[in-house]
Amino acid sequence: MLNVTNSKIIELCLDDERFSLTSGTILEYKRVLDMSNGSLSRELVWRSPKGKEVQITVKRLVSFSHRHLMAFKYQVKALNFSGKVTVSSSLDGDVENHTHEEEDPRFSATLEGLGLSVSKIIADQEPVVMVQETCRSNLVLACAMDHRLLSGSDAVKNIEQEHQKVTVSYQLDIKQSESICLEKYVTYYTSLDYPVEELPELASRMAAKGMAKGFDILLGEQSEYLGRLWDKAGLDIKVDNITSIEQALRFNLFHLFQAAGSNGRRSIGAKGLTSEGYDGHYFWDTEIYMIPFYAALMPGEARKLLEYRYYILDYACERARVLNHVKGALYPWRTIAGEEGSSYYPAGTAQYHINAAVAYAINKYVEMTGDFSFILEFGAEIIFQTARLWEDLGTYNSRKGYLFCYHEVTGPDEYTALVNNNFYTNLMARWHLNYAYEIARNLEINYPDQFKRLSDKIELDQDELQAWLKAAKNMYIPYDHILQIHPQDDGFLDKEVWDFKATPAERYPLMLNYHPLVIYRYQVCKQPDVILAHFLLPDQFSLDQKCRDYNYYEPITTHDSSLSPSIFGIVASELGLYEDAEYFFAMTSRLDLDNNLNDTYYGVHMANMAGSWMNLVYGFGGMRTTNGNLSFNPYLPPDWQGYKFGIIFKENRLEVEVKENEVVYSLREGNSINFRHRNKDIFIVEGEKVIVSI
Ligand code: BGC
Repeated sequence: MLNVTNSKIIELCLDDERFSLTSGTILEYKRVLDMSNGSLSRELVWRSPKGKEVQITVKRLVSFSHRHLMAFKYQVKALNFSGKVTVSSSLDGDVENHTHEEEDPRFSATLEGLGLSVSKIIADQEPVVMVQETCRSNLVLACAMDHRLLSGSDAVKNIEQEHQKVTVSYQLDIKQSESICLEKYVTYYTSLDYPVEELPELASRMAAKGMAKGFDILLGEQSEYLGRLWDKAGLDIKVDNITSIEQALRFNLFHLFQAAGSNGRRSIGAKGLTSEGYDGHYFWDTEIYMIPFYAALMPGEARKLLEYRYYILDYACERARVLNHVKGALYPWRTIAGEEGSSYYPAGTAQYHINAAVAYAINKYVEMTGDFSFILEFGAEIIFQTARLWEDLGTYNSRKGYLFCYHEVTGPDEYTALVNNNFYTNLMARWHLNYAYEIARNLEINYPDQFKRLSDKIELDQDELQAWLKAAKNMYIPYDHILQIHPQDDGFLDKEVWDFKATPAERYPLMLNYHPLVIYRYQVCKQPDVILAHFLLPDQFSLDQKCRDYNYYEPITTHDSSLSPSIFGIVASELGLYEDAEYFFAMTSRLDLDNNLNDTYYGVHMANMAGSWMNLVYGFGGMRTTNGNLSFNPYLPPDWQGYKFGIIFKENRLEVEVKENEVVYSLREGNSINFRHRNKDIFIVEGEKVIVSI
């Protein structure tokens, strides 16, 4: 993911003194992210080295309603002087990525010197346009800016071009106590979405359109857009007047609202759009952690995120051939455009479980929304192509009673790599093969024409369907009869347990302080593996079994991956381990806001952000969808007085409010809804509520 034209620059000069936070004196300073109207502001009072005092207020937004547009409002008030003021606003094309400066293996960028270069600047009049190009793939980006000065009609305007930068400046006189206000409108368009020759025109037209609306109207639209989302999310957390929990959840949701690719050709980077961490690559994070959130609150976005997987399906098929599979598709472990971006295959490509993650997310999306048309248009092909890889990858192992086994794969826990029969992988592959078979049968009976067309296209026959079923039926699921737990893989329990007592706090995360080969030799987990399988497939084992597995893996998990605490928290809730659940919820909910991992500088942790919402809804609320049915099993965490959340299930907007002795289910929109509260069937029609005691 490349850094694009820097359009945020607005500079201020008071006569001959340039405003800077590092000179003069800052008398007041405040930075506010307003999550109700989606704007970021700074308000400050500055005294220049020569004693001039100004109040500067900057507000900016990236529009949700007009996806190409960003707007700024820059206000300056002269507090104790009258004089000349210059406000200069720029587009700077001299940008580069910084990841090459890092030694952290999570930043593997090889982009040094390979960023965007300026190919054209159109600066004879406003909107000013800068066109940039990538140097190898020749992708083109056009960025335009337009301005409106709301005060100071006698201002002298000037447009200047210097190397890779273009600046529009306004010089004017200001009187003491007077204010000036500059609005700036910026747009970005790329050749990924539009023909190259149209980009400058599209960019400038949108900038002019933004300007015609004006900042305050855009802010109003932003507020309405977010208002609808907040209403659906329905968050209300009551914990002894502590607002920090709700604030944290809202902060996480706010990031989720703005991160989703919404055109079917983008997904969500592990760090969203907030930094260069992981090079902006997309992982299974979207499917396993984020899709549940989008399916429940932004179903349109969820569909688009899944369409993205269809968009890159051909690459996944090619990838399977590269790995010598004769048929099927293997999704890359990390990618944007569709090619595999992992450089270290043991903790990358070998994570075959990503195939199951994609199929699983499709299933959850369809269960939550009832949108079976997705299966017909895109889903079936993805599910079949990825399922057939499972059949190709495994083998009937004579030494394990001819059960179906997988060798040399890596499960979700990256502190163990290239293993045989990773519990998670085998369990998810079994689920995936069964699901693919079920979908095939469903299409064959109910949509025979579509099924014929698709099976002809991908050369799928009845023998192959039977082979899927046979592999699923005979799947080997590792179990240790002495410890009565599921080993993470065949060799996991043979290893010594990591010496946690001898590991000082500063040697975590382990991956930054020990060679992977050292870590691989011990029983130590970066993140849930067996426990994640229990969360995703909750009906396969008894609570006792899940409890034994939890008690075994929790103490040997470092949570060095931010994908860890939320899952432990949800499973702890299911097992009635309420203290653990609260502990993990606290860890997950404020992870970025409090910079708990000390790495938020590299971008927020999107999977964890969605995980914190899941902790509330799936953990405390006990929500599950199984075979298309919705159920809840809510409880009130010990220190809480109540909480509320909303979800959309098959176009019905349901609100769940958990109080000290009762749960109130209200159908806010939709015709009627059926679900289970523990073992009780509940039916509600629009506008009504049902109250159950707990
Ligand atoms: C985790 C992966 C995850 C990736 C991106 C790694 O640290 O182990 O499971 O997909 O980060 O978030």
